[in-house]
Amino acid sequence: MTAVGIDAIEIWTGNLKLDLPGTFAPEKGEDPEKYTKGLGLNASSFPDSYEDIVTMGANAAHRLMERKGLEPDDIGRIDVATESAFDNSKPVSTYIAGCLEEVYDDDFHHANKGERKFACIAGTQSLDDAYNWIRAGRNRGRSALVIATDTALYARGDAGEATQGAGAVAMLISEEPALVELSTEQGYGSADETDFLKPNQQFPSVDGKRSVQVYLARMREALEDYESVAGDVHPDDISYIPFHTPFPGMVRKAGLLGYRHITRDTSIEDDLADEIGRQPRKEAFDDEDAFRDAVREYMNALKETDRYHEWYAETIEPTLSLSREVGNWYTGSVHLARTSALKTALEEDRDLAGEILLVGSYGSGAQAEIHAETVADGWREEIGSLNVDQQLAARYDLSWADYEKVHDAHNHDVDDDVGEFTTPENEFVFDGWGRMGERK
Ligand code: CAA
Repeated sequence: MTAVGIDAIEIWTGNLKLDLPGTFAPEKGEDPEKYTKGLGLNASSFPDSYEDIVTMGANAAHRLMERKGLEPDDIGRIDVATESAFDNSKPVSTYIAGCLEEVYDDDFHHANKGERKFACIAGTQSLDDAYNWIRAGRNRGRSALVIATDTALYARGDAGEATQGAGAVAMLISEEPALVELSTEQGYGSADETDFLKPNQQFPSVDGKRSVQVYLARMREALEDYESVAGDVHPDDISYIPFHTPFPGMVRKAGLLGYRHITRDTSIEDDLADEIGRQPRKEAFDDEDAFRDAVREYMNALKETDRYHEWYAETIEPTLSLSREVGNWYTGSVHLARTSALKTALEEDRDLAGEILLVGSYGSGAQAEIHAETVADGWREEIGSLNVDQQLAARYDLSWADYEKVHDAHNHDVDDDVGEFTTPENEFVFDGWGRMGERK
C-alpha cells in the first residue's frame, strides 16, 4: 500500500506577543509562576490589527507552496479547519484560495474546497479527510492542502485569557510523504458536551475546570478505542506523543493519563509493582467511587516515580516548546506539538526516520482521536526549512495598553482605527471586506 501522510508543514504566527509573566501577571496581580509553571506558558502570539484567520492561513500556505515549488494545479483539495470562522456560508478556504490566486498565474479551479468544524480536533479531521480522499484514489495525482487557522481569543477577565494565541499551520498531504506517514488505525472518544461553546459569538463561553475533565475523559476513551484496533502500545515503541495543547499544564495531566494507559498491560507495571502497587482494575470494585479513589491514588504515586519522570522528559516535554511561546492555536495546536517534537529531535541530531509518534487530538464539544504516525525519511529537510524561531523572535512585544487596544479591535467592540504595531512584509493583510487578502 502506498504511504500517505504529511509531506510538508509550515507555520505562521500572529505578529504580536503578549508576555505572560512580564506584562499579564502584574496587571492581574498574580504570581508569574502561575503562568510559567502552573499553565506552562511564557507568552501568547497575538494577531496585529491587519491579521486574521484568512491572512495567517494564506501566509502559511503560500510559504509552503513556494518552498515545495507547487502551482495551484498541483492541489486537488483545500480544507480549512477553524473555530474562528466569520462566514456561515462560504468556507474560509475560498478566501484563502482567493489570496493565493493573487500571486499565482493559475487558479484553484479544480480543487475541492471546504471548511471543517469540531473545535480544536477539526485540523486532525481535515487531515483524516485528505488521507481518505487520497486512499480512495480520487486525487488524480494531486495533493491536499490542509490549513488549521485560529485566533484563540477570550473575553478580558475570562480564566482562559491567559491561554490565548493566534496562528496557522499549513500541511500538504500527499502520497510518499517526506515528513510523516499516517496509519490507518484510529481510536475515538466522543460525547455531546457543553463545556466550551461559541454560539454566534466572538469569544467562547467556557467552563474551564470542567473542560479539563472532559478532555481527559474523551482522551482516555480514545486511547482504549485505539488499543482495541491497534493492540497494546508499549511506551518504548513510541518516540513522542504530541497531544492537543491548550496550555502545557493540560498536557501534564494528559501525559500521566497516557502513561498509565500504555503501561497497563506491560512489563513496566510489573517493574513498578513493588514501588507503587498495581493499577486498580475496575472489575475488582463494586463501587464506582471507590474505584475512582483507587485510580487517583495510583496516579499520584505513579507521577512521583523516576521512571515516569524520565519518560515524560523524553516523550512529552519536547512537544511543548512552541506552545509555551505562543499559547493555544486551537485547530493548529496538536500540529504545533508534533512540529515541536520533530524540531527538538533535529536540534538534538536524533535519527528519527521510521520511529513512531502517537498523536492525541482533542476538540471541545467533545471528541478525542488517537492515531499513530511513522516519521518519514525526509523529516530533517522539512523541519530544517522552518523559520518559526525567526518569526517568534520578530514579534512585537505588547504593553498592557497596546494589548487592550488590539484586543478590543479584534472584538469589533470599537470602531477606532488602532493602527498597526508591526509593518507587514511580503505577507497577506486584511484590508477591509471585499478587498481582504491584499499582499503588502
Ligand atoms: N506557581 C505554580 N503553579 C501555580 C501557581 C503558582 N504561583 N498558581 C497556580 N498554579 C497552578 C495551579 O495549581 C494549577 O495547576 P494544576 O491544574 O496542576 O492544579 C494551574 O496553575 C492553573 O491554576 P488555576 O486552575 O487556578 O487557573 P485558572 O483557574 O485561572 O485557569 C483554566 C485554568 C480553567 C484551565 C483556564 O486557563 C481556562 O479556562 N482555560 C480555557 C479552557 C481550556 O483551555 N481548557 C482546556 C481543556 S478544553 C480544550 O483543550 C479545548 C481548547 O483548546 C480550549
